[in-house]
Amino acid sequence: MQTDLKGKHFITTQEWTIDQLEAVFALAKELKAAKAAGKPMRLLPDKTLYMIFFDSSTRTRNSFETGITQLGGHGIFLSPDKMQISHGENAKDTASVLSRYGEGIAIRHCAFREGNPYLREVAHWASVPVINMQCDVYHPCQIMADYMTIRERFGVNTRGLKIGVAWTSAPNYIRPLSVPQSLILMMPRFGLDVTLAYPPEFSLMPDIEAQARANAAAAGTKFEIVEDFEAAFRDADIVIPKSWGPLMHTTDKDQGLALIEKYPAWRCDTRHMELGRKDLIYMHPLPADRGREVTDEVIDGPRSVVYDEAENRLHVQKALMALTM
Ligand code: CP
Repeated sequence: MQTDLKGKHFITTQEWTIDQLEAVFALAKELKAAKAAGKPMRLLPDKTLYMIFFDSSTRTRNSFETGITQLGGHGIFLSPDKMQISHGENAKDTASVLSRYGEGIAIRHCAFREGNPYLREVAHWASVPVINMQCDVYHPCQIMADYMTIRERFGVNTRGLKIGVAWTSAPNYIRPLSVPQSLILMMPRFGLDVTLAYPPEFSLMPDIEAQARANAAAAGTKFEIVEDFEAAFRDADIVIPKSWGPLMHTTDKDQGLALIEKYPAWRCDTRHMELGRKDLIYMHPLPADRGREVTDEVIDGPRSVVYDEAENRLHVQKALMALTM
């Protein structure tokens, strides 16, 4: 198994081989067991991770900061409005300077068409690994935690499992495309059959959908896109009903919010959960818009694994940091 990952950027799972991803899962499992046993795993003593957040976060910030502490290192929370980024300092200077001080840079930047190019630019100039804490295109740490959770429920061999990724109608703000895009890219590579369901205005980036199709073809798995919410649940083992914005259709905020309101029936309730296979699990990366995306009965019910999913962020990210920094 490939384990020489020191210095490797983690911007999308697509740029990591299955062996490299398996090395992360193996170490994450070990770290989770060690934590449960109260055994310290100080794999990164005295190492520093810079965490630049252009956007708000509960899980990502706290799982990374707690994770680096548990590994014996230190995480520094950085907000661009308190950095010289706010005065126009460019990615090259930020990346070069932080690389002289510490051992890793993690970034969340979800602005559409800005986030991923910024991460790529930092990664180009940094001499330490850059970890994607979510951009406009990918949320790879979330999907690693999701897959770890799926394996805990269904076992290591996930070939033939069906996962439904369904758009939901959540109001108030336009959510990025990064979660569904990362799901459809990685899950087929691990043998899962993917059904992606969304209303016509909510398609994902065409190159990502094409890459997901290619991944599924290479892995011999199924990938389909439907405009039928229930199809994502029918005969599924795993469902991830989750909102995102109509960004391929419009980047106008008011138009986007109006389109989200157009499909109130795209909401997960117990009737949908009955369409799946007997061990169907409900997943959501959180935060979930309770009552709009999903009923309390489902998200608080016996099939929901949302807190396992959130916990596994800690374990996979510790593994990622330990392997790359
Ligand atoms: N799932 C996730 O990334 O949560 P936060 O936005 O709270 O970090």
